[in-house]
Amino acid sequence: MQIHLFDTSQQVGQAAAMLIAAQILQKPDSVLGLATGSTPIPTYQELIRLNRDGVVDFSRVTSFNLDEYCGLPVEHECSYHSFMHEQLFSHINIDLAHTHVPDGNAVDQQAECARYDMAINQAGGIDVQILGIGRNGHIGFNEPSDTFVYGCHIVNLTQSTIAANRRFFESEDAVPRQAISLGIGSIMNARQIILLATGSDKADAIHRAIRQDITPRTQASILRTHPNVLFLLDKAAAGLL
Ligand code: F6R
Repeated sequence: MQIHLFDTSQQVGQAAAMLIAAQILQKPDSVLGLATGSTPIPTYQELIRLNRDGVVDFSRVTSFNLDEYCGLPVEHECSYHSFMHEQLFSHINIDLAHTHVPDGNAVDQQAECARYDMAINQAGGIDVQILGIGRNGHIGFNEPSDTFVYGCHIVNLTQSTIAANRRFFESEDAVPRQAISLGIGSIMNARQIILLATGSDKADAIHRAIRQDITPRTQASILRTHPNVLFLLDKAAAGLL
């Protein structure tokens, strides 16, 4: 486990983007695991700039997103499909056919979970997985629990996550109550994991993930057992370490 500290969230984004760019330069057909939320936005902005400047070419890259809300139309402005399109995919030369976000509207949810894990395996597995962290220590939508769930699964969102994500929706009632998420096993299978955390509201989750027990009550704590994990933190998120 390596921890890198930066003064600002902008610098965290630049560092993450440089690592992703280096990965793609080394392996142009890399498979990236991507996250949504506020945290990776500076990373995506920097990747867009690097792509525009001809430094990094996404034409052979494949991506798999971590998660999607259940029951939200794909075209809804708060869906993770829309987020990825607006924040990254429509600004870079990635082939949209090579981008993947789980289907939160699948009629057979279990079949969709199995299909998504299979698609990652068939693509050769994830080379670099980008993660944010929830205030409750979740990664993907793996909420605090008594167990770590291995594969892609359907999750009931906790009140803490619903409250945190309410800022994107008209009201708290409009926040979906369920999501489809990669499991902890699918995340841990990535060859490299880069967790980004910025802001003082992540300081407690980061402290629990890095300094306290490895427990499914803080799902991110399992990352410490991964052989190639980087935590990129700004000073505020690292404030309790
Ligand atoms: C998003 C995801 C979540 C977020 C986490 C932090 O795809 O899987 O785990 O990374 O909720 O969200 P932000 O960055 O908005 O604080």
